[in-house]
Amino acid sequence: MTAPRWLIATCGLLALSLSSLRCCDVVAERPTSGMTTPVDGLLVKPYLQLGDVLPGAVARDLRVLWQAEDQEAGWAVEYRPGVDEPWRLAEAPAMRRVAVPGVPPHRVYRATLKGLAPGGTFDYRVHRGGRLVFTAGGRAPRPPGQPCRFVVFGDCAAGTAAQKAIADQAYRARPDFVLIAGDIVYNRGRIGEYRANFWPVYNADVPAPALGAPLLRSTLVLAAPGNHDIERSAHDLGRYPDGLAYFLYWDQPLNGPIGQAGGPLIPILTGPEATRTAFLAAAGPAYPRMANFSFDYGNAHWTVLDSNRHVDWTDPDLRAWVERDLASARDATWRFVAFHHPGFNSARSHFGDQRMRILAEVFEAGRVDVVFNGHVHNYQRTFPLHFTPDLRPAGAPPRPDDRVPGRWTLDTSFDGRSHTRPRGVIYLVTGAGGASLYNPEQQDDPASWQPFTARFLSKVHSLTIADLDGPTLNVRQVAADGQELDRFVVTK
Ligand SMILES: [Fe+2]
Repeated sequence: MTAPRWLIATCGLLALSLSSLRCCDVVAERPTSGMTTPVDGLLVKPYLQLGDVLPGAVARDLRVLWQAEDQEAGWAVEYRPGVDEPWRLAEAPAMRRVAVPGVPPHRVYRATLKGLAPGGTFDYRVHRGGRLVFTAGGRAPRPPGQPCRFVVFGDCAAGTAAQKAIADQAYRARPDFVLIAGDIVYNRGRIGEYRANFWPVYNADVPAPALGAPLLRSTLVLAAPGNHDIERSAHDLGRYPDGLAYFLYWDQPLNGPIGQAGGPLIPILTGPEATRTAFLAAAGPAYPRMANFSFDYGNAHWTVLDSNRHVDWTDPDLRAWVERDLASARDATWRFVAFHHPGFNSARSHFGDQRMRILAEVFEAGRVDVVFNGHVHNYQRTFPLHFTPDLRPAGAPPRPDDRVPGRWTLDTSFDGRSHTRPRGVIYLVTGAGGASLYNPEQQDDPASWQPFTARFLSKVHSLTIADLDGPTLNVRQVAADGQELDRFVVTK
């Protein structure tokens, strides 16, 4: 991989800041429990987001988001695409106010860094009232033709030591982007839980296995929503008035299917009218559209889906959206899909949660290469496979136990070493990102695995690190201590 020039640039900026300007980014991390005391006006330090991009287009813009107190403070963002470039002033940041019950009102600001050179590094700095309060750097999304590295893990912000070690390991990998495969924040995807377990770990000021890492400020991070983030019960704002924070704090493409509340895509939002109104104002266009989206990065097209039980992926219109999305990416070298609940899982935990198998034929027809999932807190890799679900009578509801019986065809000749051209879709479970591990007893008991499972590693926390270079995909599963657990290569 190329050297992390942005890191060198950032260090230079920090040195400059120390000598001439006070910069909050270089002081020791302050206690953040509850994060009720802002530092330099920042409730949550700046972080990079993809924003709303059109599928098929390489993003030349990125967004910087941060959270601040509910008062005017003269925020401004400057950025420069390279160390020899002049600083540019971003357009005045946009703001949405979050004023839901139980949390002091605060603001989510966002500024757009426009016209970045695809794949190039950049620096940015944030000013408050004319004073520099934050500086960092990152990399613009890579265009087709450039190699890239991405990291995937799920089931992470549970307030555990393992979560921090995985964050540190992800940062050490210097990926171009990170994708969280759902269950971003435990236990209910609430604002307070983000403050306790997410921001301090994934946007820590310094990288350390016991702390976390400055990932969010320096690296594009995307996420698929899991059950702990947006499942049906989270839509009861009477019970969880600061819930559904996924829609408040993430800024991802708004190009997914459109649905009506109570339909096959979106649950009905309940709770006091004032709370619902406050949530909808704070979420803006992100709710509910941002639960599904697609984007392009390098030579790959990514489709991110909401696999929660409230979505009926047997619905013809929803299936047609996935079909169209994958068809639109027929010229991409690679097609990846990410969602939370795995259809193909050998763990005893969540074994019956098979409903996403219902899309297997759509993925195969769309020539998907790898599907990334979480939900099950371990690592599993299938053989490349084709799956044909048993048809249920038209109009019949899904089985109440979510099981999807059917027939699979396995490419057991694929070994990811000498045989690297898979016949079928590879499904990865990479849900060992921080929450307590599931079924460690099954790792050494292959008799307990389903026939489609080629690897099952459940004794340590881990993350997926993938390198994409033209027609070659190199995937490693790495433990929290850096040990390589699994490796396979896919070639075209
Ligand atoms: Fe889950």
